[in-house]
Amino acid sequence: MASTGLQHSNPAGSRKAQLFQLRDVYRIYGEEPVAVHALDGVSLDIHAGDFMAIIGPSGSGKSTLLGLLGCLDLPSKGSIKVGPTEITDLDDGERSKLRGNSIGFVFQQFHLIPHLTALGNVATALLYRDLTKSEIHQRALEALSMVGLAERHDHRPVQMSGGEQQRVAIARAIVTEPLMILADEPTGALDTKTAKIVLDIFKNLQDENRAVVLVTHDLEIAEQMDRVVSMRDGKIIADDLRSERTDALEDRFWESASGSKLE
Ligand SMILES: Nc1ncnc2c1ncn2[C@@H]1O[C@H](COP(=O)(O)OP(=O)(O)OP(=O)(O)O)[C@@H](O)[C@H]1O
Ligand SMILES: [Mg+2]
Repeated sequence: MASTGLQHSNPAGSRKAQLFQLRDVYRIYGEEPVAVHALDGVSLDIHAGDFMAIIGPSGSGKSTLLGLLGCLDLPSKGSIKVGPTEITDLDDGERSKLRGNSIGFVFQQFHLIPHLTALGNVATALLYRDLTKSEIHQRALEALSMVGLAERHDHRPVQMSGGEQQRVAIARAIVTEPLMILADEPTGALDTKTAKIVLDIFKNLQDENRAVVLVTHDLEIAEQMDRVVSMRDGKIIADDLRSERTDALEDRFWESASGSKLE
């Protein structure tokens, strides 16, 4: 953890630690004249304690933004700091290390390894840590019990429901005790009842030292988050806090989804 410069406490005082700082970030795929401007000048700060949704129509840049936050990708232009570290200055190995130490990522389609058990899948996140086999086993089991799946630790993905597989994927994301948990449509492949169980797990992960960021199409989910960032055409068009928002979020969601212009 020390190598990332990120720490679990915030000795500077009551102000919440800044976990991400994006300034004028662009992500352009391909070359002109057919280049796609997936992110078009995004600036965003995310602090410890943030419990945040990213919403917006398909193609608005949500996954691109989350991939950059997750250090899975680099911007074409602009600055991204994770804690004090500018990620565009890191090489691939350093970026993977930062990701492995500080960030837990959950995908819509779970991305579990089919031939490994639930426990084996969770344990993959700890393989590069300096831990004994039995410590890895213990921590993976603890993470599985946090998502209510300790008893299913020896099941393989094919033997589990979609909701259970997503809970294993969440256990894999949290077993490293990351300061940032990022999830791209984590309930997108689940039925409503199972989606609620998964959302409740994310709610339990809310912590003053940690940021939880979910991309979602589901307004009911977004409404349960403390902060909602709305995107359109690669830009952030609104950033609403629960304490300040009223019915505006619903209007914003539908206006954004229908592509009509926002004031
Ligand atoms: N690897 C890529 N190569 C080229 N274009 C891409 C690539 N990834 C994304 N894009 C384009 O960038 C834009 C933003 O895509 P992104 O996946 O971030 O949108 P999204 O908001 O997550 O959409 P959805 O809700 O459908 O998941 C889209 O126009 C998409 O086609
Ligand atoms: Mg997406």
